Amino acid sequence: MEGVGDRCFRRAMASVGGFDEAVRDFIRVPRNGHVKSLACEYIFDEIAPFPLAAQIMGSDLDLMGDMACEIEKRGALRIDINCGCPSNTVTGRGAGSSLLKDPQFLNEVARSVVQSVRIPVTLKMRSGYEDISLFRENVLAAEESGVQYITLHPRTKLDGYGPPARWDLIAEAKSLLKIPLVGNGDILNVEDALNMLKTTQCDALMIGRGSIINPFIFHQIRSHFSGIEYRPQFEDLLNYLHVYFSEIPLDMSSRVKVNKLKQLLGFVFKTNAALIEKRSSILTAQCTDPRDLLDHALPLLKENWL
Ligand SMILES: Cc1cc2nc3c(=O)[nH]c(=O)nc-3n(C[C@H](O)[C@H](O)[C@H](O)COP(=O)(O)O)c2cc1C
Repeated sequence: MEGVGDRCFRRAMASVGGFDEAVRDFIRVPRNGHVKSLACEYIFDEIAPFPLAAQIMGSDLDLMGDMACEIEKRGALRIDINCGCPSNTVTGRGAGSSLLKDPQFLNEVARSVVQSVRIPVTLKMRSGYEDISLFRENVLAAEESGVQYITLHPRTKLDGYGPPARWDLIAEAKSLLKIPLVGNGDILNVEDALNMLKTTQCDALMIGRGSIINPFIFHQIRSHFSGIEYRPQFEDLLNYLHVYFSEIPLDMSSRVKVNKLKQLLGFVFKTNAALIEKRSSILTAQCTDPRDLLDHALPLLKENWL
């Protein structure tokens, strides 16, 4: 997740575990120029205890293929194609959710990536651009490109994050596809996860915001199936926050560190009603040192944790 799913978050999540694989935040592929210099910044130097995929976003057939190839050389285990980003700066360049306006073109972009690498290629999409009139066409065009599976976030670009995700569209896509389908959108707890699996018959789940709010959600879902109880303790949360904090680059200014921590804590303070009540005191805290922010947040978390 762009702006959140950085190295600090990935390392912190790695210390918790419970999920099968993860995808890095997207890398923009320009419409002209050379991808090598861009991809250089995208070195897979993390020893992740889970398969870590790269996500690319762009609309130039050749450059998307070239970028995938460069990233493959740098150790990515899978390439995911972004057909969902709603940001106007992205869609204005024909990338992200803009690809959903033209199923044939979406197919060509995906095909170009599939044919450029040996590692698996997957595709993440929304249900449409302005509406869902091309939904079926897009789903089938994606499958036809040769991608190994599709992740569906069933909102249109126009929806943004507003209305509830339309899980019925996940069920519809599942009935259309031969390749596996990963369902995504609005899973915040175990009950949501079970409901999505049951009502859509999707093959797997992808959880975004729910994992920033509650990093233990994956273990909790697993625990439902294994029958082995999993109850995260406050110390587990402390350890997660410690790993996150220790991964923040030293050369970052204190102000940026404080804002970064506020962003993460802003999600964690949505975990339950008691924490939601205290959330604004975190977001508006006048701290110049990130340690002061933690000193303010930790007692509140301890008091109200689960
Ligand atoms: C801050 C933020 C950043 C995101 N960045 C990406 C991204 O880089 N690539 C992507 O495919 N989806 C991105 N998404 C969308 C999520 O992956 C996901 O599809 C969406 O949030 C719905 O799922 P959720 O309810 O589990 O969060 C982002 C969402 C948010 C809130």
